[in-house]
Amino acid sequence: MTDGLVPLVAGNWKMNGLRRDLDEIRAIAGASAHLPRPEILICPPATLLMAAAEICAGTAVRLGGQDCHNEPSGMHTGDLSAEMLADAGAAYVILGHSERRAEHGETSEEVRIKAHAALRAGLMPIICVGETRAEREAGEALALVGAQLKASIPPHPGPGLVVAYEPIWAIGTGHTPTPTEVAEMHTFIRSELGIGLGVGGTKVRLLYGGSVRSENVKEWVAIDNVNGVLVGGASLKSADFMQIVKAFQ
Ligand code: 13P
Repeated sequence: MTDGLVPLVAGNWKMNGLRRDLDEIRAIAGASAHLPRPEILICPPATLLMAAAEICAGTAVRLGGQDCHNEPSGMHTGDLSAEMLADAGAAYVILGHSERRAEHGETSEEVRIKAHAALRAGLMPIICVGETRAEREAGEALALVGAQLKASIPPHPGPGLVVAYEPIWAIGTGHTPTPTEVAEMHTFIRSELGIGLGVGGTKVRLLYGGSVRSENVKEWVAIDNVNGVLVGGASLKSADFMQIVKAFQ
C-alpha cells in the first residue's frame, strides 16, 4: 500500500448497468458510510451518472466517467466532453483503458490530449497503461509501459493524477501477474513518474487492475506502490466490491 497516500478503490462498470443496478451503488454508498478510507469511486456508464450522483450526494462515494472527448463541446456526435461528465457529477475520468485503445484505436497521444481536457474541466484523470501477453513474454513489458506513460501523461498533471497498471492479458480472464511482477512494474512506474514529474510523481496513486477479486485482493494490498485497485467485473455487485474496499481500510 505505502507512501501516506489515501488508497483508491475504483470500480469500472464498463458497458454494464441499467437503472435497476443503481441499487448496487445505493448499497455501496450505505456500506461505506463509516469507512474513513479508502477513497471509493464508481465509474458507471454515462447514462447512470446523474442518477448515481443523486444517490451518492453527501456520501463518501465518488463518481467517474469512462472516457471523454478532448473538446468542451461541438460537432462530435455520440461523444461526451469532460465538462459534461463534471456537470453530471463525475470527479474522475478513466482514460486510455486498453479496451478503448483496442476497440477505438486510441493512441497515447490522444490519451494525453484527453487528460488535458479532464484537467481543464476539473476532473482527475485515471490514465491506464499495460502490456499484452506477447509483450510480457518477450520481456518488453517495462519498456512498453514506460513508453505509454511518457506519451500519455501531460507535463503538468496536477495533484489528482492516478495511473492504473492493467496488464491486458489479466483483464476479465481470471489470470493475474504474480505479486513480484506487479511490484516490479509499480516500482518502475513510480520511478518513471519521478523522472517525468519530479516530486509530483510521489503523489500519484498507482492502481493495479486485472481480475481483482475478493479472493486475491490481499496480494495487491501488500505491495509497495500499489495505492489501490481498478476493478471491473467484481465491482458490479456491491457485496463483492465492498470486500475489496475493506481490504484497503
Ligand atoms: P476485470 O476486473 O473484470 O478483470 O477488469 C479490469 C479492468 O479492466 C478495470 O478497468
